[in-house]
Amino acid sequence: MITTSDGNTRLTPVTVLGLGPMGRALAAAFLDARHPVTVWNRTPGKAGDLLDRGAVAVDSVQDAVRAGEVTVACLIDYDAVQAVLEQAPAGWENRRLVNLTSGEPAQARQMSRWASSRGIDYLDGAVLTPTEAIGTSSAAILLSGARHVHEAVQETMAALGGTAVHLGDDPGRASAYEVALLDIFATSVNGIVHAFALASAEGIEPARFAAFATGIGGLLPEMITRFAQQIRADHYPGERSTIASAASGITHVINTATSHGIDAGMLTAAKRTIDHAVADGHGPEGLARLTTVLRKASRP
Ligand SMILES: NC(=O)c1ccc[n+]([C@@H]2O[C@H](COP(=O)([O-])OP(=O)(O)OC[C@H]3O[C@@H](n4cnc5c(N)ncnc54)[C@H](OP(=O)(O)O)[C@@H]3O)[C@@H](O)[C@H]2O)c1
Repeated sequence: MITTSDGNTRLTPVTVLGLGPMGRALAAAFLDARHPVTVWNRTPGKAGDLLDRGAVAVDSVQDAVRAGEVTVACLIDYDAVQAVLEQAPAGWENRRLVNLTSGEPAQARQMSRWASSRGIDYLDGAVLTPTEAIGTSSAAILLSGARHVHEAVQETMAALGGTAVHLGDDPGRASAYEVALLDIFATSVNGIVHAFALASAEGIEPARFAAFATGIGGLLPEMITRFAQQIRADHYPGERSTIASAASGITHVINTATSHGIDAGMLTAAKRTIDHAVADGHGPEGLARLTTVLRKASRP
């Protein structure tokens, strides 16, 4: 919200760079909140119904940046963001850039330094929820970087709904959360498809298997919370289950998968960590101890 010299108020004009599924969802949410919206995309013709709803599409990045007081970039990766921003070398006075592109913490910090060298007020961010959540109460967006930039864009970013948490001055912090959360997602998806492959190889009907598999998913929230407490306390009681027991369990999975010709690479990597833990005398401890074993320098 901006108060003009005549005392009236108007909503901050927003530019969205990138009209993939997420960029379109972000632009739609800004329109829903009645912000003036300008959009730009490398490939023209992707604005769809955003134009009918009042968005303005421009052909050049430079025009897009000049139109918005807050520019939100949401592209495939940081290389694309930098390549696009190189096309707007000027016109950043009194403007802020929020980069909601997924990336790595080091890339976010580098991008922040790059923006700073060009006098661009920069905030990094990560979208944790799918497109349909944007603009609703379930949207989750992490932001990090200079506090004064966050304060300047906070109200505008509220149009995206849900929670937009500022995680502090380190511009890499939002990406750090994102990659750690993606770590869970990537390995979980791999685990799920691997389990279906194994179950199918044993002739188990997928829907019947799913009925039990969802029960495993239900155990995870409590486990995540408990692990957090143990890692914080650096204390890993093995009362519920031990690393030694997990070593035995994972061996059965590896052997059965291998007998069916199913790749067991992810499991053998996990088993290697477990074996290191046992070799270091951690066999009687709980599974959260593996965090410290993983953190050790890579071993042969
Ligand atoms: N979709 C989701 O549910 C979701 C959820 C959370 C986070 N995210 C994150 O949001 C970001 C955008 O995701 P998305 O789903 O919208 O689709 P995406 O496929 O990751 O990105 C598509 C956008 O990137 C642009 N692009 C690709 N290469 C480019 C280049 N070299 N130069 C300029 N522009 C380039 C595309 O332009 P063209 O149209 O010209 O190809 C399009 O605007 C990603 O970082 C993604 O990880 C997405």
